[in-house]
Amino acid sequence: MKKGFFITFEGNDGAGKTTIALACKERLEQAGIDVIYTREPGGSKIAEQIRNILLDPQNKEMDARTEAILYAAARRQHLMDIVAPALEQGKVVLCDRFLDSSLAYQGVGRDLGIEAIEQLNHFAIHNLMPDQTIFLSVNEEIANQRMHQRGELNRLDQEKDEFHRKVRQGYEILLKRDPKRIKKIDASRSIEEVSNDAMEVIQKIIYG
Ligand code: TYD
Repeated sequence: MKKGFFITFEGNDGAGKTTIALACKERLEQAGIDVIYTREPGGSKIAEQIRNILLDPQNKEMDARTEAILYAAARRQHLMDIVAPALEQGKVVLCDRFLDSSLAYQGVGRDLGIEAIEQLNHFAIHNLMPDQTIFLSVNEEIANQRMHQRGELNRLDQEKDEFHRKVRQGYEILLKRDPKRIKKIDASRSIEEVSNDAMEVIQKIIYG
């Protein structure tokens, strides 16, 4: 039985999910909360192996459906290895990307359709949905700047601007479909401002 809180961070490449999630983790720890940070794709041994296949810039010929299935497979493994046990122990789980990444990237970015990707992922996650999702939103210019600042680009980072534009639209569609679970935060501001807003959302979920 799930006892903890499952919180996911979403957004385009370069939105700053990792920075903000780690800042929130630190603040929750300071408040004495039992919290873990983890990320997708990867986060556990087998899932990291799948991640390497997915993000290898040399795997240019990967078929879109293969990509979607591999993300779902990595998700399942990570869920079983890391997320479900931590929730069972009553921890707060901060997860860098989850289902919405597949809906936005493969469903919309790759044109496979949101419903098709939802069905595929249902098999992987059943009803273990996030209690809350923080969607960090930045415009194209800032996303590009931040993405290039961090150096090496993975296979998906290297996609054309048009792909990243579609992913951005994808997240907006998801926000409209599920405004209760997904909270949008303007992530073009300072780390402190963005993490303050993210913490407000997290505290509401934890303390009610
Ligand atoms: P990563 O380097 O972890 O990027 P970030 O720090 O921006 O999260 O690479 C993950 C990449 O995989 C990222 O480009 C988004 C993509 N992705 C999908 O396309 N579908 C998915 O379901 C997930 C979880 C990630």
